[in-house]
Amino acid sequence: DMGGHDTYMHKEISEQADAVDRVLRGRIDDRFSTVHLGGLNLDAREARGIRRVKILGCGTSYHAGMIGAQLIEELARIPADAEPASEFRYRNPVVDPDTLYVAVSQSGETYDVLAAVQELKRKGARVLGVVNVVGSAIAREADGGMYVHAGPEVCVVSTKCFTNTVVAFALLALHLGRIRDLSVSDGKRLIAGLRKLPAQIAAILETEDEIKKIAEEYAGAQSMMFIGRVRGYPVALEASLKLKEISYIHAEAYPASELKHGPLALIEPALPTVAIVPDDELLEKNRAALEEIKARSGRILAVAHREQEKADHTIVVPKNETELDPILMGIPLQLLAYHTALAMGRDIDKPRNLAKSVTVE
Ligand code: M6R
Repeated sequence: DMGGHDTYMHKEISEQADAVDRVLRGRIDDRFSTVHLGGLNLDAREARGIRRVKILGCGTSYHAGMIGAQLIEELARIPADAEPASEFRYRNPVVDPDTLYVAVSQSGETYDVLAAVQELKRKGARVLGVVNVVGSAIAREADGGMYVHAGPEVCVVSTKCFTNTVVAFALLALHLGRIRDLSVSDGKRLIAGLRKLPAQIAAILETEDEIKKIAEEYAGAQSMMFIGRVRGYPVALEASLKLKEISYIHAEAYPASELKHGPLALIEPALPTVAIVPDDELLEKNRAALEEIKARSGRILAVAHREQEKADHTIVVPKNETELDPILMGIPLQLLAYHTALAMGRDIDKPRNLAKSVTVE
């Protein structure tokens, strides 16, 4: 049942304020400015012993894991990174007992992720699952974890589950942070930020008509570039994946800082750039990249916290705490991909060559 929407993708994008409300519900502890995650099976002493976090997933779940790794490193000060589960499995990785492994999956059935979990467990590692489908194979196989409570996701391309997975990682990072060195005041600040998310998401979704108009302008492009830095880079990767999956427009994502090391050669009027430009410590650096692109007559769509002078269009999103900004900046780009694909007459819920869950190698 599409509940009055023309596609599942549109329905699922529209559900995100409620979905985020669900992942937060019952987990926030104001008394200690922390988060309770009952299913982790990881006590405070064990949490203090973690020396690294390694996050494994595929596709969109891998991108959510990249943001998760940044959140864990920033809030809990534990070295963390994400890697595609399929690559990890095949490179005979060093499995270290002080590393916490986290498997991320919407379906909980992705074969490469499941196989990585099984291999890790065989070697004695501790593996958590950050999973949407309750009782799925990865959820059962993991030592503990958290459900992301996005609700059923039918469309082949993941939208609401991406957002909820990133929020779940923010909760995990806050939880680990408050056991380690994150202060009470930072805990309070982030909890207040998390509570603002549903209303801010609803406000972004209200701007759909404006995003649709912009999408219709870019719908004819042969290729598009997505750029961002640090927190904005996984947002760029995910937006580029979304666009290519449903519109079949070729898209690339780069850290904005890498432009001058090669991809700048591609910039010309026919190759539009989507730039993630949050109001954070990298704002001036990001603006310099926009200038470089403008100097080559490139068209620019910025997703930012305020109007960007160098951009041809700016989608302004509400500001949250800096660490949580990537959660919001991805949402208008889901709508951009959606309306671009719609304007090109694509079959949005069933993109060619793709399946909802990849249960083979
Ligand atoms: O169910 P999973 O989260 O494990 O699926 C992983 C990927 O196959 C999935 O995210 C894929 O990239 C989607 N088509 C993205 O929209």
